[in-house]
Amino acid sequence: MKNFIFSYPTKVYFGKGSAEKALTAELKNCRSIMLAYGGGSIKKNGIYDDITALLEDKKIIEFSGIMPNPTYKKVLEGAELARENNVDFILAVGGGSVIDCCKIIAVQAKTDEDVWDMEFERKKMPVSMLKMGAVVTASGTGAEMNNGAVITNEDKKIKAGMLGAYAEFAVLDPYYTLSVPFKQVISGAFDTLSHCMETYFGTPRESFISDEINEAVMRNTIKNIRALIEEPDDIEVRGELMWASAMAENGILKLGKTTDFQAHQIEHQLGAYTNCNHGQGLAVIHPVLYRRIYKYAPGKFARFARTVWGVEGKGKTDSETALRGINCLTEFIEEIGLPKSFREMGIEDKSCFEAVANSCNITAGCCKRLTADEIYEILEECY
Ligand code: NZQ
Ligand code: ZN
Repeated sequence: MKNFIFSYPTKVYFGKGSAEKALTAELKNCRSIMLAYGGGSIKKNGIYDDITALLEDKKIIEFSGIMPNPTYKKVLEGAELARENNVDFILAVGGGSVIDCCKIIAVQAKTDEDVWDMEFERKKMPVSMLKMGAVVTASGTGAEMNNGAVITNEDKKIKAGMLGAYAEFAVLDPYYTLSVPFKQVISGAFDTLSHCMETYFGTPRESFISDEINEAVMRNTIKNIRALIEEPDDIEVRGELMWASAMAENGILKLGKTTDFQAHQIEHQLGAYTNCNHGQGLAVIHPVLYRRIYKYAPGKFARFARTVWGVEGKGKTDSETALRGINCLTEFIEEIGLPKSFREMGIEDKSCFEAVANSCNITAGCCKRLTADEIYEILEECY
């Protein structure tokens, strides 16, 4: 296990009615609050009314229209608004896109430097940010409990994780997810499974506590996705998935490990060119990537097959068991109605694949460091 320091900055309010508890306790001393949200789903499902009623003694500055796959332009717009109005707290109400956009708004509002240039050109991490909180309305990304934010810079054609920003508190009320389109619920839940896998297949590969907890989170996520398909309004199951989403990204599964996240890097860069759905893109990429690399770590992939998918490994080589596990993952993706190809996701034009492959961040890899050519081949195979 690698050395680590663990601390935990986000306070979680989980369960029905948590928004009231959280906002009453956490925003006592705030006067002007930027209420940030997306395309308006919160106005239809009543969450907007809930939240504004809880903020009635505050000055509210609304920032709406944060799009799925939020852009850096939107970040700059939000930061400008926050500065102009001397906002002292940002409340993000939405899914990963709204939370991510607000995280970087919170950083940009506190500095005259351009945050994108600061992080990517000058390799400097943020030193301060406005305080912010997250009310999660669609789960899966775990953005509410980690210190990353995925932002698309449309001018540079890069979708990338920006680090160093986090929410002071997160509200996880599974009732708030009931109105999320079901396709998005499943795509979000697969994102959770993907975060687990990208961590599990990091290094070092020996088994220790983080991996065993991870196996439990993966098994539960799979079980609960199946249960939710049977009973879409089951609030217990929604709550389990919501907590699994946070667990996958709150750092606990990553302790002592270097994560892989190569599937994410490919999906993000594809997103920069196609604006595709995150969870769906991952569902297409994972099996193709794993079929290509499992032979470089057959033991770990065989363990994944046995402990997560219940594959019987007796009398089989690690490679045979590993491949069976990857087949289980592929069958599961099909079973839960996620796409099997980019074409099925609605990506018609593959002329961007070369640019995607050449601009894709390459990680140390779970067991094999890919080349840009291999990423191109993976994209072609996914098509
Ligand atoms: O815009 P609104 O009206 O909010 O509608 C959203 C959006 O259309 C809708 N929605 C959310 N809550 C709803 C609801 N509709 C009805 N009822 C509700 N209660 O759902 C749609 C998708 O929302 P979005 O926030 O885009 O989805 P998700 O949570 O999957 O976030 C995706 C973004 O997060 C990034 C992804 O790359 C993508 O940009 N990620 C962020 C991560 C992080 N910060 O750590 C990690 C992830 O790996 C991921 O990359
Ligand atoms: Zn993800």
